[in-house]
Amino acid sequence: MQLLLQQVENTVKAQFSHQEGSHDWQHIDRVRRTALLLQKQEGGDALVIELAALLHDISDHKYNGGDFEAGTNVAKQLLEKLNCPDQLKDQVCQVIAVVSYKGALVADQPTSLEGQIVRDADRLDAIGAIGIARAFAYGGSKNRALYNPAVAPTLHQSKEAYAQDKGHTINHFYEKLLLLKDRMETASAQKIAQQRHEFMLEFLAQFKAEWQ
Ligand code: ADP
Ligand code: NI
Repeated sequence: MQLLLQQVENTVKAQFSHQEGSHDWQHIDRVRRTALLLQKQEGGDALVIELAALLHDISDHKYNGGDFEAGTNVAKQLLEKLNCPDQLKDQVCQVIAVVSYKGALVADQPTSLEGQIVRDADRLDAIGAIGIARAFAYGGSKNRALYNPAVAPTLHQSKEAYAQDKGHTINHFYEKLLLLKDRMETASAQKIAQQRHEFMLEFLAQFKAEWQ
C-alpha cells in the first residue's frame, strides 16, 4: 500500500502545485498531517484517512464549474487505475463525498470515524491564522472586496445558494469560518478549534476597529 500512497501523492501534488494559496498542495499536505495527528488520538484506519485527505479536494465544485459529485468520481477512477482494492476505494470515496461544507443551515452528513477525522482536519485548516490567510487568498483570486459593511452575511439554506454567493470576504467568516468550531466532531479537533476560533474573533474586532 506504500506504493499506492506514493502514486496518489505524486498525482495530487502535480495537480495542485499551481493552484492559488487557498487550495494548493500545501493545503492538502496540512490536512493530511492534521488528519494523521487526529488519528493518533482518535483511532480509525490510517490508510483510509491519508488517502482521503490527499484526495479530498481532487475536483472541487468551486473550480470545476459547479459539479458537486465530480470529486468522488475522479477519486474513484484514479484509485481504480492504481489497482486499489475495492473495499479501500469505497471507504475513501465515502469520506470524500461528505467532506465539503454546504452552507450555514445545511447539516453535515453522518460519516465514519475516518470521515469525521478528515472533515475536521479540513475545517481546522479553514480557521485560525491560516484560515484567515486562505480566505483572503481565495477572495483575492475571485476579485472579491475585503469588506463592505453595507452587505450583511447570509446563512445559506442550500449548497447551490452557498456556492453562488459572491459576497465580500469578511462575510465568509460569518457564513462559514466562525461556525466550524461547533461542527467539529472529534474531541481532539474541538480542542484545537477553540483557540483558532478565538484568534479569528480577535482579528475581526481589530479589522473592524481599523475600518472605523
Ligand atoms: P469545503 O472545503 O468545506 O468545501 P470550501 O471549499 O467552501 O469548503 O472552502 C474552503 C476554503 O476556501 C474556505 O475555508 C476559505 O478559506 C476559502 N473560501 C471558500 N469560499 C470562500 C469565500 N466566499 N470567501 C473567502 N474564502 C472562501
Ligand atoms: Ni480542503
